[in-house]
Amino acid sequence: MIKNLVQVESVVKTFGGLKALNDCSLEIKEKSITGIIGPNGSGKSTLFNVITGNLKPDSGKITYNGSEITNKESHELFHQGILRTFQIAHEFTNMTVIENLMVVPGNQKGESLLYALMNKKKIDKDDENHKRKGNRSSSIS
Ligand SMILES: Nc1ncnc2c1ncn2[C@@H]1O[C@H](COP(=O)(O)OP(=O)(O)OP(=O)(O)O)[C@@H](O)[C@H]1O
Ligand SMILES: [Mg+2]
Repeated sequence: MIKNLVQVESVVKTFGGLKALNDCSLEIKEKSITGIIGPNGSGKSTLFNVITGNLKPDSGKITYNGSEITNKESHELFHQGILRTFQIAHEFTNMTVIENLMVVPGNQKGESLLYALMNKKKIDKDDENHKRKGNRSSSIS
């Protein structure tokens, strides 16, 4: 049976007097590619922002893979595999391609300010990520 990966139940999000999401409910099936269409200003980006933790809903419930994620922060959701991208995405232009790819994996020790300050010379996860990305690109080519 195909299960629901994301479930949005009766979500409301207002900006002052404007109701951007009014009792919004939907389901996204596992392994599906799902798009949302609607006129300008109909609330698509607001919905994505609420699901991905960039905005807090006024009410309603959001479930991902069976666990409730309503009001979780975006950095917590990232580690569960949920993140949003922006319409104009671009790389860090002062870094090489491999350096850009090495930024992506989560839980890197260098993300801790204290660790980074105390281990300036060696952030050992970098080597691991470098190898991983290298292997991945060579298997694609
Ligand atoms: N941060 C905000 N503060 C106030 N109003 C907002 C905010 N974000 C969105 N809105 C309003 O909420 C409504 C829904 O906007 P939203 O950006 O979600 O629509 P959209 O469907 O993504 O539109 P588009 O197709 O133009 O991207 C609009 O009326 C918009 O002006
Ligand atoms: Mg939008």
